[in-house]
Amino acid sequence: MPEITNWMAQVKKDHPDIVTIVEYGQTYENRKISLLKIGLNTGEKKKAIWMDCGIHAREWIAPAFCQYFVRQILQAYQTDPKMHEMMKNMDFYVTPVLNIDGYIHTWKNKTTRLWRKNMSPGPSGCNCSGVDLNRNFDANWGTIGVSSDCCSNIYCGSRPVSEPEAQAVTYFVGSRKEDFLCFLTIHSYGQLLLVPYGHPDFTAPNYNELMEVGLAAADAIKKVHGMKYTVGTSPDVLYANSGSSRDWARMQDIPFSYTFELRDNGTFGFQLPEDQIQPACEEAYSGALHIITYAHDKTFSGAVATAAATLWTMLLAVGVTGNTLM
Ligand code: ARG
Ligand code: ZN
Repeated sequence: MPEITNWMAQVKKDHPDIVTIVEYGQTYENRKISLLKIGLNTGEKKKAIWMDCGIHAREWIAPAFCQYFVRQILQAYQTDPKMHEMMKNMDFYVTPVLNIDGYIHTWKNKTTRLWRKNMSPGPSGCNCSGVDLNRNFDANWGTIGVSSDCCSNIYCGSRPVSEPEAQAVTYFVGSRKEDFLCFLTIHSYGQLLLVPYGHPDFTAPNYNELMEVGLAAADAIKKVHGMKYTVGTSPDVLYANSGSSRDWARMQDIPFSYTFELRDNGTFGFQLPEDQIQPACEEAYSGALHIITYAHDKTFSGAVATAAATLWTMLLAVGVTGNTLM
């Protein structure tokens, strides 16, 4: 974690014109939760992309992916006109580690390596600690795929958004929710792209589009190293659940909300070997970029086309198309 914190400061130092660090909450153990905000300062109101990694402590490939993602978009915006355009129109909000306390806990020793939850103490009378942050959001909270036993790995907490880490995301994203086009929350493992909802009784209004875009993202992923990703709702391809941040984001009307379950398929599970970090990040980047580009183009290509058409009409009106300009 200290390495990641130093890395964030260095990224800001290296790109002071487009990167800022935003502290937007505190963990149970009073560590600051921060994100990198990346985008060109246009002075105009912009759309936004959300990405968080490490909501589950043991899913170590996720924080690695957030760092890889940041490095790639910062590199691409200098060389790739498409990324430059996207950075003009949108800000990227990337949280490399959301569950910082839990993440630090998994680095302590072998016996704590597979800790999943945050580190808040259980309710009085319970000897276990930790709430599953991805069951704690205000989205059909406590109804399915959860446990009320505080010793369970899927303990959903005492009430919706009881946990400071879930509160941080809820307040930060909730207060500017109309800006966000995408909400991408990064987990491992299973090689899945999960679309809302986790509850089998509810279907997202744009389910078909979410599936189409997700399947195209899975194609993009497969092109990189041949890895297969499955796309679907959590009950269809993994298990039913409630209180996830993905479902909460979709309920806030953020249209493109996905959970990424990165490599692998269970061979190493949460303990993905080091030599798979790079390829796992490369392929997932390609998938994430597909979703982000789709959301961007749906919102902005239309605007560009409209502006071009308006300009053309004006030129026709003043009669310059036939001579001066052509
Ligand atoms: N990251 C997943 C979660 O949020 C765990 C997936 C691991 N299990 C599996 N069967 N792939 O619950
Ligand atoms: Zn997870």
